[in-house]
Order: sequence, then C-alpha cells, then structure tokens
Amino acid sequence: MCGIVGYIGDREATPILVEGLKTLEYRGYDSAGVAIYNDKIDLVKTKGRLKDLVKTLGDSNMKGTMGIGHTRWATHGEPSYLNAHPHMNSDVDIALVHNGIIENYIELREELIEKGYKFVSETDTETIVHLITESEKTTDTFLDAILAAASRIDGSYALGVISHKNPDEIIAVRKESPLVIGIGEGENFIASDIPALLKHTRNVYFLEDNEIAILRKESVKLLDMDKNEVKKEIFRVTWDMDAAEKAGFNHFMLKEIHEQPRVMRDVLAQRIDETSTEIKLDQLKIDKELLKRVNKVYLVACGTASYAAEVGKELLQKVARIPAVMETASEFRYKDPIIDENTLMIVVSQSGETADTLAALRMAKKSGAYVIAAVNVVGSTMAREADDVLYLCAGPEIAVASTKAYSAQLVAMYLISIKIGRLLGKINDTEFIELRDALLKLPTQIEKILAREEEIKMLAYKHLDMKNIFYIGRGLDYAASLEGALKIKEIAYLHAESYPAGELKHGPIALIENGSVLMGILGQEYLMEKTISNIKEVKARGAEVIAIALEGNEKVKKIADDVIYVPATHWMLTTLLVNIPQQLFAYYIACGLGHDVDKPRNLAKSVTVE
Ligand code: M6R
Repeated sequence: MCGIVGYIGDREATPILVEGLKTLEYRGYDSAGVAIYNDKIDLVKTKGRLKDLVKTLGDSNMKGTMGIGHTRWATHGEPSYLNAHPHMNSDVDIALVHNGIIENYIELREELIEKGYKFVSETDTETIVHLITESEKTTDTFLDAILAAASRIDGSYALGVISHKNPDEIIAVRKESPLVIGIGEGENFIASDIPALLKHTRNVYFLEDNEIAILRKESVKLLDMDKNEVKKEIFRVTWDMDAAEKAGFNHFMLKEIHEQPRVMRDVLAQRIDETSTEIKLDQLKIDKELLKRVNKVYLVACGTASYAAEVGKELLQKVARIPAVMETASEFRYKDPIIDENTLMIVVSQSGETADTLAALRMAKKSGAYVIAAVNVVGSTMAREADDVLYLCAGPEIAVASTKAYSAQLVAMYLISIKIGRLLGKINDTEFIELRDALLKLPTQIEKILAREEEIKMLAYKHLDMKNIFYIGRGLDYAASLEGALKIKEIAYLHAESYPAGELKHGPIALIENGSVLMGILGQEYLMEKTISNIKEVKARGAEVIAIALEGNEKVKKIADDVIYVPATHWMLTTLLVNIPQQLFAYYIACGLGHDVDKPRNLAKSVTVE
C-alpha cells in the first residue's frame, strides 16, 4: 500500500528516488511524485504509473541532493495529480510522503480549516502536513513539530518529511506501516521495503512502531517518541537484487511460477535431511511442554495466505489432532475471539506487514497466546513481534498475485503440522518417512507440471471468451480451489467462484447452463468418487469441465472435457501440485485478455491498511 523513499547525500536525489520507486511500484501504482530540496522544495507529481512520472520529470530538470518520493495506492480520493504525494503545506516549505491511513483525519481537517488552512487534495495525508505547520507555532524545532503532529494522529503511518527550514535532515516516523532505513557511506535512505535500497546499501535498520529516524548525510539517529535515543543492531541484507529482476520472463508472475522448484529445493534442503526422522525447524521454539497446554489453534491470514492457512487448519486437525480454526484476519479481531495462554496462533503472510493479520497477532499476544509467524519477508513486523518465526524462504515476490510465496506457505503448513504431529506422538516413524520422501520429491514433480506449460496455455486460450468460471473441490481440494478462483479474479478480472463440491446443489448449481465453465480439483483420492458425481451433475446441465487430477486417474477422462494431470503424491501434499496448473491457467487467461499481469488493477502487493 504505497511505496515511500527518501535520499540524503551528495548525489543527485531524483534518479535515486525514481529507481527506488520502480522497485516499490508493486505497492501501488496509480500516481507518483518526488520532492527535492535545493534552496527551496521542488515538487513533481503525476497521475498514473511511474513511467508517467519519469516522462514529466524529463522536462523538469530538478536538481538537489535531498528528497522524498512516493508511489500511491489510493485510499482517500481518486488517483489524480492533486491527490498524489508528496503533499506540501500552503507556504510550500514542508513536503511529506505517507503510507498508511489517518483515521481521525476528518476531525483534524475540520479543525485546521477553521484555523484557516486551505486543503487542495481529498487525502488524509494532507492533514498531517498542515498539522505540522500548525504545530510549528508552538514548538521550538521541526522534530518537535512533527512529534506534536504525530501525537494528534490516530491510525497508521510511515512518514518521510523534509522542510526548507530544516535543510539538512529527512525525518521519518513509523506507526504500524513498514519503514526501513538504509545506511550508506556519506548518504542515507528511507524506504518502505528493502529492494529500494539494495543498489546502494545492504545495511539497514528496521524502524519499529513509534520510532523516529533523523537522517543526515553522515548519520542516522533513532529516537522514541520521547526523544530518547534508541540503539539497535544493523541488519545485513544477504539476498541479491537479481532475485528482484525478471530474468528474461515476460512477467514477474511467470518467473516466480518457474522459480518454484528451486524455492522448494532450497526450503526442503534446509528443513529435511533425507536420512533423518525429524524435521529441522530449529528456529521454532515450540516444544512438547508448550503444546501440552495448547487446546486450540487459530490460523489467521488474508487472501491467498488464508487459503494456505486453511490447509494448515485441516492438517493440524487431521494429523496432529488439535482443534484448529482458520480465521480471515479482517474478521477475526471483531469476533471477540476466545484467546488465552492455552491458545496457539499461527499467522501466515508473505509480506509480514498485512494490517489485519498484524492486528490479530497483537491481539493474541496481548491475551497471552503463543504466536508463530510463517512469513516471507525477513525482518518484517510480524517476524519481529511473533514469539516464533518460520521463514518461508521464497525470496522476494514482486508480482502482486502470489505464486511461489503461496507454495512456500503450503510447505510451511506441512512442516509445522508434521513437527507438531511428531511432538505429540501422532505421526510414527513409518508415516514420517513416507511424508519426508514425498516432500523431497515435490521439486521434481513441480518441474514435471511446468513442462506441460504449453498444454495449459492452449487450454487457457481456448477459454478466453468465458464470462465466469466455477471451481469445486472437497477437503484440501476445496482449499486449493479457493486459490485457483482468486488468481482468476485478481489477474484475469473474471468472475470466479469456488465452492465445496457438495455445496453446488444447495444453490449455486442454478447458475450452471450450457457453456458454463467449471474447474474440478481431484487431488484427494479418497474424495474423488464424490467430486466426480458432482462433476457429472454439472455436465448434465451443459457445463464444460476442466479437471485437475492425479496421474493414473482414468475415470475422470471419461467425464471431463479436458484433464490436466499432476504427479501423484502423499494426500497431504496434493494441494501444492494441483495449484501449479491453476497458476499457469490464470496467468495465460490474463495474458490472452491483454491484462497487466504483474500490476493488476485496484490491487497492491502489501496491504498495510485495514
Ligand atoms: O502479504 P500477505 O501474504 O499477508 O498478503 C495477504 C494477501 O493480501 C495476499 O495473499 C493477496 O491475496 C495476494 N494478492 C494474492 O495473490
């Protein structure tokens, strides 16, 4: 949700800010802007994508060695020039970029209008810049003015602020929105995420909630809201920028789909020894003692991550025999959930910053629960605040539509439930070895599916004129079908709905008519006959059926119009394999329809607002 960058040093700031914003465009891409200090503050912004900003900048010849930049995902006010960031005060001496949502902005705006402030945008952000100006009247320093303004704001923010009267500093503040400080030599940076910094430095500080960073050319000072100095370790980023490049693929999404065998190999090599009867999850501190007191597990997440959590829920119940529920994070905290020290919460997230999931984590910790975070982004807020972290190790995922991170989330769910099942004595050695060997085969099996890309592409092209598509499955196949339908919605903009196969005849089957398209997922052998009956019911009503089934399933061939086969595996792991054709199918439908696959309309990669 919005990307912010800032630079202070000896080099020209504009190209550095623009390069940084390019790597953050996944966070929002409806408008963009930069403000550069050079005796006065120059501002260039534009509606549209970063390439539009680059075009506009082309004529502006902005010079200066300190500046801030922003790429926006609109929350308050449509994408437009006036609503684009940076925002400035009426005296044009303060510029500010913001990621987050100011919840009390209407009251503040009314108060400021009464005091004579003129608003030019519909954003909540503009309130902050006027509030700082107002606070300057009663404070001694620019920092104090920012702190006074921050104390009036309810909501979430990562802010980067510069002022004409304070020309040697960028001041950054964070509350519930991510912010990373890049530490260079004679230059320093702020950014919403690490890729924006990697060309310049690998040394970073992660700002925590209610912390402030004062960046000068030669120094970075970290403070709390009472201006006490905060000392923290520099975090060294080890992964490479190459991981965030397209490497010859047409889209990041396709590249990330193809990265899955390698990601699986890396993850499994770290966690499984092919001769051992234990999973290597040393960094997870959960043990038998802790599990003895756990009487309920909440798995909490949003979107795609919630479908991985759905799989985790089923496995924990089936394999570890612990009562488990999956809760959509945005609903969870308003349900008055029963949480205490006997509760285990597992939050699942690629970014580790999703606002609703983070709020659920905090709520659980407050009530005494033990929280495990299965997250991808190293050093993210969830990773830092949870009691235990299991990193997904999928590498940076750039495409808005999640693919490799989802597969890595599934593997995390497999590993956590196997680990808990083993600790509780519910999985014996023979069962473990069977699972271990099946897990180790996953990378090669994914490669086998990817080798059928052309076949899946043709199938997608055959269905480019469909208006909607139904996905059905039972048990773990239902969880997989939820993800299949979401991918179609996100990038192909088609109405796709997923139902537990048995539910169709309780209503949705009324929608089936000649030419309706249905995707049937048949990974769970023991439920296969039942799902086949449901497929027959829709076939009888004129639907065209595509099935994703395990190799060796001859029965489905006689019923479905097209079958995509995936290698057979242990029942726990089929969810991962049946999903790979779903990813390719959605990808090629979206390409065939000419959509911007990596930056789908209305979406952003990291949803840091409620
Ligand atoms: O970063 P997170 O995994 O917490 O994000 C959760 C969802 O916003 C995310 O999975 C979203 O549904 C993706 N666009 C799915 O492709």
